[in-house]
Amino acid sequence: MAPRIAVVGSINADLVVQMPKLPGRGETVSSSEPKWFPGGKGANQAVAAARMGGNVSMFGAVGDDEPGQMCLAALSQSGVSVEAVAKVSSPTSTALVMVEHSGENQIVVADGANQHASFDSTQISSADAVIVQFEIPESVIIAAGKAATGIFCLNAAPVRTISDELAELVDVLIVNEHEFAELGKPQSGLVIVTAGANEVVAYQDGQVVAKSVPPVVAALDTVGAGDTFVGAFIVAYASGASVSQALDRACAASALSTLKLGAQSGMPTATEVDSFLNSNTN
Ligand code: RIB
Repeated sequence: MAPRIAVVGSINADLVVQMPKLPGRGETVSSSEPKWFPGGKGANQAVAAARMGGNVSMFGAVGDDEPGQMCLAALSQSGVSVEAVAKVSSPTSTALVMVEHSGENQIVVADGANQHASFDSTQISSADAVIVQFEIPESVIIAAGKAATGIFCLNAAPVRTISDELAELVDVLIVNEHEFAELGKPQSGLVIVTAGANEVVAYQDGQVVAKSVPPVVAALDTVGAGDTFVGAFIVAYASGASVSQALDRACAASALSTLKLGAQSGMPTATEVDSFLNSNTN
């Protein structure tokens, strides 16, 4: 049976521009035509989890505006339930996403409706896994951790200090290598550290328990690759896969997600990941 996943998190409209080289401090550069895409770490993880076979519900907030409608439509099209997403008077949060032709990126998130993200404890307490990130208020994240009865996964991005109260609630922590370094103190439980195209390492209470290397692909846009990893990992892990098996699926999914422009555009389905993994082992 498909695992029930609740994502309590951000929903952003991404304004994406591509350029040969990211601007330096004080520099002005020209870019391609601007394009709007659905994004936000929470919504991206919800879409990734749904495409990987999860039964996913999204909890968050958008403005009563066109970007909000675009984001909700994208979630629905991927099979994510958006019934519980609040419509608030603040504008939908917006991310300015600059993508260099090499695939490198820089993102600025202009906050809005995400600050009003909310949920009802009874709506998430029966989920097999609850996923949160750091683009919504800490109080909402802690409430989600307290309400969760299954796996509680924190993707500590964008990185900030993890309070002791929150750390005690987290079962699975997923961070990239830079975020891991910034956290500065050891974290207990299952900690997964991604490193872009390099090896992913899973630690259980500080001991290495599994590793996986993402497959090599010609990445066009890596925005959302980390979110794809989170969604794909949690669906596999909540379905009973071992940490090692879940890492392999998440690595393949995140690599495939980089082949199209836009955080959610390239996120693969479970079938696409299966055939990719089969063709790579044959
Ligand atoms: O992780 C990628 C996401 O970060 C983008 O979609 C953008 O909205 C920012 O939240």
